[in-house]
Amino acid sequence: MTELDGFVRLDTLPKGFVRGLIEETRALKTDTPTDEPLSRATLGTVYQKRSTRTRVSFEAGMNTLGGDAVFLSSDDIQLGRGETVADTARALSRYVDGIMARVSAHDDIEALDEHASVPVINGLSDFNHPCQALADAFTLEQAKGSLDDLRLAWLGDGNNVCHSLLHILPRFGVDVRVATPDEHRPEASVAETAREFADQNDGAVTVTDNPGEAVEDADAVYTDTWVSMGEEGKEASVFEPYRAEPALLDAADDDHIFMHCLPAHRGHEVVDEVIDGSHSVVWEQAENRMHAQMALLIRLLARNR
Ligand code: CP
Ligand code: NVA
Repeated sequence: MTELDGFVRLDTLPKGFVRGLIEETRALKTDTPTDEPLSRATLGTVYQKRSTRTRVSFEAGMNTLGGDAVFLSSDDIQLGRGETVADTARALSRYVDGIMARVSAHDDIEALDEHASVPVINGLSDFNHPCQALADAFTLEQAKGSLDDLRLAWLGDGNNVCHSLLHILPRFGVDVRVATPDEHRPEASVAETAREFADQNDGAVTVTDNPGEAVEDADAVYTDTWVSMGEEGKEASVFEPYRAEPALLDAADDDHIFMHCLPAHRGHEVVDEVIDGSHSVVWEQAENRMHAQMALLIRLLARNR
């Protein structure tokens, strides 16, 4: 599939396409469509990992648009017992109008995209989580009125969610400050791309090991689990200084928002007082996943009908 026929990573999509999705997200949140633009369409949804938000937001979103989603756990389909990703892509393409997949290895989502003849959407890989970051860009813009002149601090692990935020926010002029232990920085190639986007769009990117430096005057503070799915057994004590707690977030702007993609590991990367506090927009983020993905589904699936 060509780059505009899928949604595998944000950095290779045209900026105008991404901006259009954010605008469409806003429209869909304001007015839920009643005309069923995806009537009788089917989305195949493949999961190699668990999910609550991604699964339900895609299934409810497809339903709202008049279509249907088929849940395909890799434990239950032939992919889980040796059928190749390429052959899975070829077979599913004969039945469904689009494929959403949550995979362990990012190469698998790339292979699905390469071999499917229908649009492929990345519902998280070990490298990135573009659906999350698209919805988050919208949430941030809605909370702050504009993405111009904003500063977002990322705390903790330079992981898949961090990568996708770096692929989208500096392109819209956001100053992104990533604070992680040195050995858990985002991938160098991602930081490099983010810096190029920042240079072209009046944004900025900083990667530091100092959480206080990142949070200083931040308009948004974002964290995620210190141990992503598939990393069980990872030593997490090194992340302790990066915990989102009042003593650290006091340095942020008085009107900052607190963001988390969820699920949260309360008492680890964030304390109750912060995630349940007045600055928190985490449930708005969760809701916006559905609006953003409906925008994406209409864009990718409706035109092929
Ligand atoms: N944020 C997110 O993707 O949540 P799930 O793992 O519940 O889908
Ligand atoms: N970084 C987390 C995100 C979960 C939505 C993980 O990959 O487990």
